Amino acid sequence: MNKSHILSLLLAIALFLSIYKLAEVKNEIKNTSESTSSKEEAILSVIHNRKSVRNYTDQPVSDEDITTILKAGMAAPTGFNAQPWQFIVIKDRNTMMELRKELVYARGLDGSPAAIVVCGDMTKVREEAPEFWITDTSAATQNMLLAMEGMGLGGVWSTLYPGVERMAHARKVLNLPEHIMPMCVIPFGYPTGVEKPKVKFDANNIHFEKW
Ligand SMILES: Cc1cc2nc3c(=O)[nH]c(=O)nc-3n(C[C@H](O)[C@H](O)[C@H](O)COP(=O)(O)O)c2cc1C
Repeated sequence: MNKSHILSLLLAIALFLSIYKLAEVKNEIKNTSESTSSKEEAILSVIHNRKSVRNYTDQPVSDEDITTILKAGMAAPTGFNAQPWQFIVIKDRNTMMELRKELVYARGLDGSPAAIVVCGDMTKVREEAPEFWITDTSAATQNMLLAMEGMGLGGVWSTLYPGVERMAHARKVLNLPEHIMPMCVIPFGYPTGVEKPKVKFDANNIHFEKW
């Protein structure tokens, strides 16, 4: 093999390696964008499939799943990162029925295997914005409802705040101290499948730049 043969061989090897590397990089880019779009699809599907679920099967919800839901709740954004919340997990049907007695709108409590009462903790609020307990616990509530949807569970935001009597009733049944404000109760469980998501998108609600 003379010098020019060796040079051609080396050039061919270099060319092959470059093409191979290029193909590898291209493949990597393709895989990344594919996994990004499937991630997007997954999160958007959870958001758009969430619905208020008021009818449940008899299947109990595991403690592990309840912890997962609570973790999702506590991942919510809060003003000043105050996290001014407390959560009461209820699995006792007697407590749920006691709550239900004066909560005419909380139909979900009739047959739910579990419920979470979302509360504001006034000892954790910031002086500058004490009312943020309302928005912060609302964000936590929505996070938990989305987590439930993603886990094949379903729940319904059942109002306590701002009903003075509803809040007083929850306070009494759950033995809440003065600084704890009940925001809502979320009955939840495995859906029977009767509830379907509603399409609510309306372009008329959107404004660009200014009204
Ligand atoms: C602040 C608030 C209070 C609600 N209170 C109740 C309630 O007391 N009882 C109930 O069954 N649903 C309640 N819901 C659920 C709404 O009825 C439900 O979100 C609405 O009808 C839209 O349906 P969807 O959640 O299936 O999209 C409440 C929702 C919010 C955000």
